[in-house]
Amino acid sequence: MSAPVAFLLSLTRTLAIMGLYGERHPRRLGAVEHSFEHLGLLLGENPRPQFSFLLDEVVYGRRTVRELQDWEWSRRLANAGIQRLEIEPGATLEEFGAFLDHADDLLTGGKASSTTMRPAVPGHIRFGAVGLQGEMRDSGDGAGAARPFPTATLSYSLDEEADAVRFIHQEMGDAGTLALIEAEAVIRSLSIAMHGSGRVVIPLLRLKEFDQYTTTHSINVGVLAMALAETLGFGARDVRAFGTAGLLHDIGKVRVPRDILVKPGKLSPEERAVLDRHPVDGARIILETDEHLGVASAVAYEHHIMIDGGGYPVLQYRRDCHFASRLVHVCDVFDALCTDRPYREAWDIDRALSYIEERAGAEFDVQIARAFAVMMRRFDVQVSAAPGAASAEAPLPVP
Ligand SMILES: [Fe+2]
Ligand SMILES: [Fe+2]
Repeated sequence: MSAPVAFLLSLTRTLAIMGLYGERHPRRLGAVEHSFEHLGLLLGENPRPQFSFLLDEVVYGRRTVRELQDWEWSRRLANAGIQRLEIEPGATLEEFGAFLDHADDLLTGGKASSTTMRPAVPGHIRFGAVGLQGEMRDSGDGAGAARPFPTATLSYSLDEEADAVRFIHQEMGDAGTLALIEAEAVIRSLSIAMHGSGRVVIPLLRLKEFDQYTTTHSINVGVLAMALAETLGFGARDVRAFGTAGLLHDIGKVRVPRDILVKPGKLSPEERAVLDRHPVDGARIILETDEHLGVASAVAYEHHIMIDGGGYPVLQYRRDCHFASRLVHVCDVFDALCTDRPYREAWDIDRALSYIEERAGAEFDVQIARAFAVMMRRFDVQVSAAPGAASAEAPLPVP
C-alpha cells in the first residue's frame, strides 16, 4: 500500500474512532498517534503532501488515487467542507490532533466555531473548502494549527487553470501532443472552484483582450458543461467527462492557420472550408491520444451539428448526436455570444439566453436548451477578468 493511501486510511479510521469515544479515551489518543506515524512516513516521501477530496475521488498532488475511487470518506470529507488538505514539513502531533478535532467537529455537525478558541500554535496543516490558487496561501496571521482556508467567494483567480490551458494549446501546436493529464487536472480544479463555497457557483472568465479568447472560451465551455451536466443530475465522474469534452471541444483549431483565425472580416469559401475542418481534426487528435476519451472526441466532432441536421460536418446519414455534444453545443454558442468579438460587442446574458430559447428545436436540443436557460437564471454566475496571457494567442472565430 502506498504511503498516501496508508495515511488517508489511518486518518479516516481515526476520525471514525473519534466519533465513538470521548475526548480523553485511550483508544482515541492511540489512534491519533498511530495515524501521526503514517503521516511521518508520508512526509519522509513527500515533504508537502496535498490532497483534494472530490465527491467520488481523491487527488494526491495532481494525480487521482486510483485505489480510492468511490471511497465513501472522500465524499464525506468534501461534504463536511474539507475538500483540500495540505501538510507542510514540521507538522507536530499537537497540530495533527487539533486538525483531527476540527475535522471531527465538521463531520459531526459543526461545532467548528469552538476551534477558534484553541491556542495558536505554528500551523503546518491547512484544510478547508478550497477556492483556488492564491486563496490557499498562508495569510501569515499566525492562527491555530487547524486553520481552515477561506472559502471561495466573489474573488477568485483562475490563473493556474488559464496557464495550464495555454500550455495544452501550445503543446498541441508545437509538439502535436495533447496534454491530457493537464486537461483533466484543470477540470478537477474548476470543479473545486464550482463547489468551493458550499453552494454551486459558475465561475466564468470574461475576455479582457482578444488574444485570450482560446483560453477563456475553453475554460468557460468546460465550466458551463459541468454545471449543466450537474444540474441535469449526472454523477460526478460523468460531469467531469463532459467538462473535459467542453474544455477540448475546439482543440482542432490548432491545425487552422493563424491568418484565418485572426481575420476580422468575412472568410472566403476556401478559408471557411479550412476552418470547418476543426471538428474532424479535433476528434482525430483526441482519439490518437486516448481512445477512452470517446465522449470528448464525439463532442469535438459534433459540436457544430444542429439538432435539425444543419451545421457541420455534414453527416452522411442523419443520426442523433451524442448527448454530450448537444449539451456542449449550447454552452459553446452561449459563451461565444457573451464574448466581445472584433466584429461585434458581447451580448448580455439575457439576450444570449433568449437566443438559445428561440433556437431550441432547430439549432439546439429543446430539453437541454431549456435546462440551460433555467440554470443560468437561477445560479450564481461569477465573472472574473481573464488573467494576463503569458503569450499571445490567436483570437478564434465564433463560436
Ligand atoms: Fe468549434
Ligand atoms: Fe467553441
